[in-house]
Amino acid sequence: MKILGIATSPRNGANSQTLVEHILAGAREAGATTELVRLCDLDIQPCTGCNTCITGGECILQDDMAELWEKLAESDAVVFGSPIYWMRLNAQAYPFIDRFYAHLKKPEFSCDLPKGKKLVVALTCGGLGPEVLNPVNEYVKNVFQFLGFVDAGFIWQNQCYQPKDLTKYPDKIREAKMLGQSLVK
Ligand SMILES: Cc1cc2nc3c(=O)[nH]c(=O)nc-3n(C[C@H](O)[C@H](O)[C@H](O)COP(=O)(O)O)c2cc1C
Repeated sequence: MKILGIATSPRNGANSQTLVEHILAGAREAGATTELVRLCDLDIQPCTGCNTCITGGECILQDDMAELWEKLAESDAVVFGSPIYWMRLNAQAYPFIDRFYAHLKKPEFSCDLPKGKKLVVALTCGGLGPEVLNPVNEYVKNVFQFLGFVDAGFIWQNQCYQPKDLTKYPDKIREAKMLGQSLVK
């Protein structure tokens, strides 16, 4: 089983990335092969809405998205980790999500990825709680459900202001490892 971690946070020691890494570690213990991609290491330009992908052409943007889409296609599960910025995902997450559009078959907007890949969402934030985090998880799940993914879990931790703050929550780290293991069963 191949599991792809996608971390959107731009900072070193990011809590959301660390949460993803613990999930991937649990999955590896259960026999999976894993890969972590940091969006800030890639060139993923925002969609310009040019509609070339609708009128029959390929996406005009030549960057790392094609390679990342291949990684998505080859994965059995994706662990998507993001910090909360202003009650939503951070800015780096949205160009990545918007660019799925060019990969949908037109005019029916269908996705030819095999159905049933698993998706875990991992979020970290400051003072917010489930009233904001649950809708953000629902949003990400809806986007990926459109691509044929199925919900395989949601994990979050607040009070993570400084890098490494997640280390103060060993129970959460254990939960993340178990979540990773559950992906492989
Ligand atoms: C621009 C910006 C906006 C933020 N907005 C929120 C917010 O609306 N609610 C919240 O609880 N935390 C907010 N935070 C705090 C981050 O969500 C928190 O520090 C998070 O754990 C960062 O994740 P990371 O360590 O993976 O980068 C914000 C941080 C930044 C830099």
